[in-house]
Amino acid sequence: MRIGVLTGGGDCPGLNAVIRAVVRKGIDGYGHAFVGFRDGWRGPLESDYQELTIESTRGILPRGGTILGSSRTNPLARGDAADRIRETMESLGLSGLIAIGGEDTLGAAAKLHSAGLPVIGVPKTIDNDLGGTDLTFGFDTAIQIATDAIDRLHSTAESHHRNLVVEVMGRHAGWIALYSGIAGGADVILIPERPFDIDEVCRLIRRRHARGRYFAIIVVAEGATPSEGTMEVLGAATDEFGHARLGGIGQRLEREIEDRTGFETRATVLGHVQRGGTPTAFDRVLATRLGVAAIDAADGGRWGQMASLRSMRVELVRLEEAVASLRTVTDEDFEVARAFFG
Ligand code: F6P
Repeated sequence: MRIGVLTGGGDCPGLNAVIRAVVRKGIDGYGHAFVGFRDGWRGPLESDYQELTIESTRGILPRGGTILGSSRTNPLARGDAADRIRETMESLGLSGLIAIGGEDTLGAAAKLHSAGLPVIGVPKTIDNDLGGTDLTFGFDTAIQIATDAIDRLHSTAESHHRNLVVEVMGRHAGWIALYSGIAGGADVILIPERPFDIDEVCRLIRRRHARGRYFAIIVVAEGATPSEGTMEVLGAATDEFGHARLGGIGQRLEREIEDRTGFETRATVLGHVQRGGTPTAFDRVLATRLGVAAIDAADGGRWGQMASLRSMRVELVRLEEAVASLRTVTDEDFEVARAFFG
């Protein structure tokens, strides 16, 4: 068989480990051949590809990013996507596609599979918010980077008796904020799932000061919002999937907390540094396991499935089921962090 591989959406440490696993096991174990499409769904739409071989995928396991490039191209924004991708596949003699992506890339994969295209999904996102899997690779690396940053900010916040607001990624789900906040000993954590009350945030900071701790670390997910009518927030431009380009809540909080409490407050936005660089050992192993499961599924003709981690085991779930809902932070998860606030 010849199989196409693509990586779509925001990049994430571990993508290259999946590509390597698919190609290595696919060639050595099954005798298949591979093409890699460039920049997510743009590749098969425009027939932009490169051959993937054992040689071309050597040495990429510890490399961040993706050797195939990525984009937020939404194939479904074009009415003829399924036909164009089918034409590309026929012209290259492909039996199927392995799409490595998050909610958008895999949501499109599920729809294209319903339209008759043979696709297998592999879940990725630093946000860890895909419904069909317990965990996504990239998340462990992102929380390690964010925790390292919080540790560093802690010592300077303490020296200068300042509050430091740390804005981390997390559009719909606050997993990065929650886990790095717990690991870094944050005094307040704000996540998209729970609109926050700015009065309560300031109360916690004042209480901390009253206890003789003249600094605080506030970790905020970029998608966190204040309860309606309590604080002004800015609008943002959107991408092809209709998602707003987020960022800015950290700066808003910096001003609001300083104005309301009178304590000096500064914001740090971690941004794309959370997605860059080498994956942790955990993410390399998870990405490799998912890549092997994906090529095993393709070899078995099990199209329309996604490789997923369930209770520490790698299994297949139906793509439609996997993208049906996002996995967000529950009250129970949040309560663990809340015990340490203020
Ligand atoms: O989807 C992962 C993610 O890193 C989100 O946390 C973030 O909101 C988004 O991507 C940023 O996307 P971009 O790199 O396109 O600005």
